[in-house]
Amino acid sequence: MTTRYRVEYALKTHRRDQLIEWIKGLLAVPFVLHSQPTAVFEPRGETVDQMATQTQKRYAEIMRDVEDIVNDHINHQRTGTHNRSKLKLLVPSVANFFTPLALHDAFIWQDQRRFISYRRFVPPSFNDIRLLLNTAQVMSLVRGGPLELVTFDGDVTLYDDGQSLTPENPAIPRIMRLMRNGTRIGIVTAAGYTEARRYYERLHGLLDALHVSDLTPASKQNLVIVGGESNYCFRFAGDSPDLLKPVPRKDWLLDEMRLWKESDITELLDIAEASLRDTVKNMRMVATIVRKDRAVGIIPQPGHKFSRETLEETVLIAQKILDMSDVGSRLPFCAFNGGNDVFVDIGDKSWGVMACQRFFGGIEAAKTLHVGDQFLSAGANDFKARLACTTAWIASPAETVQLLDEITELDEMQQRKKR
Ligand code: IMP
Ligand code: MG
Repeated sequence: MTTRYRVEYALKTHRRDQLIEWIKGLLAVPFVLHSQPTAVFEPRGETVDQMATQTQKRYAEIMRDVEDIVNDHINHQRTGTHNRSKLKLLVPSVANFFTPLALHDAFIWQDQRRFISYRRFVPPSFNDIRLLLNTAQVMSLVRGGPLELVTFDGDVTLYDDGQSLTPENPAIPRIMRLMRNGTRIGIVTAAGYTEARRYYERLHGLLDALHVSDLTPASKQNLVIVGGESNYCFRFAGDSPDLLKPVPRKDWLLDEMRLWKESDITELLDIAEASLRDTVKNMRMVATIVRKDRAVGIIPQPGHKFSRETLEETVLIAQKILDMSDVGSRLPFCAFNGGNDVFVDIGDKSWGVMACQRFFGGIEAAKTLHVGDQFLSAGANDFKARLACTTAWIASPAETVQLLDEITELDEMQQRKKR
């Protein structure tokens, strides 16, 4: 029988994250059993502090159990049997983990900041758990030794959609702090330009700050920009007018990427372009088609805005058509909803992150963190980074700043422990 739930679920799986939904479901039980909504009009019995202590204990126990289930999955990964883990049965879409997740400690940490256990009417939400997973991830990374590489998405992660990284951006001093501690930085963005000048225009706040900083010339080299998902690579260069120089392809391109044929690239982009044109026509979109070397997209004509539904429809059609084409099985591509545009790029961010890892001499996945805003399973471009490294899913540039502060705080705690 096809229930309404099933129909909706089938149509919306791409908008759900199964791991987050599963954890949310687990935490709903202690919420239902221990929260005390009637206490607001029947002020007898337990105080809110007592309730919160009791509820926190239950939530934290569950997070400890989830942590163990993740560890069991990691043990299965080591023996190549991850498809048989208990977690895989519970959350079929779950992929591999590069590090354990400190979920118990991260819950206590987030609860002290978000007062999840104090809530009587609002159960642990998608955002609570998304942030909890981010904290658990960075805790494990910091505890596991130096964080060697952090890659950032651009739009929505470092600056607002379509904007630029300007000098007053609060992420700048925090990125510089990471660099001062020896962490390498990559900016892995979909924005695809062939010239350094365009990247300087988008990122000048950071590049100028780095240029005038007291970091050693060697440390300043620890910043690269990978654009068009994984198509262009530039490194910081103080002696160049745009403060960026292209990196020779031999220094960053992975062997597999060398096999991508020009004829396949053209064929894939032709199919994508035809699909975009068709949807623009059918949905009466007031759009301009943009065709580039390694991408094709639609952007709104001045003064127009596309609805979320139209953007998603456009992406899902292009994705499906490309999935079903022969060339789509030979060549990696990424179709995504950029907020008010849709692009199909050659390659994806897993290749972008791996290119950074390679450029910096072979950094491991377990020592790399990618921070981005697009982690839905279809129509989102940061999602693929999960194949190459650990990730943090943020929802705004302000959350990126918070995450970087969290890394600093955890790092300082770790240093104090060592002393
Ligand atoms: P990101 O969030 O940094 O990955 O940037 C995504 C945005 O970059 C898209 O929404 C587009 O507005 C913009 N963009 C510019 N050029 C390209 C391109 O060649 N491919 C994809 N996106 C592009
Ligand atoms: Mg983004």
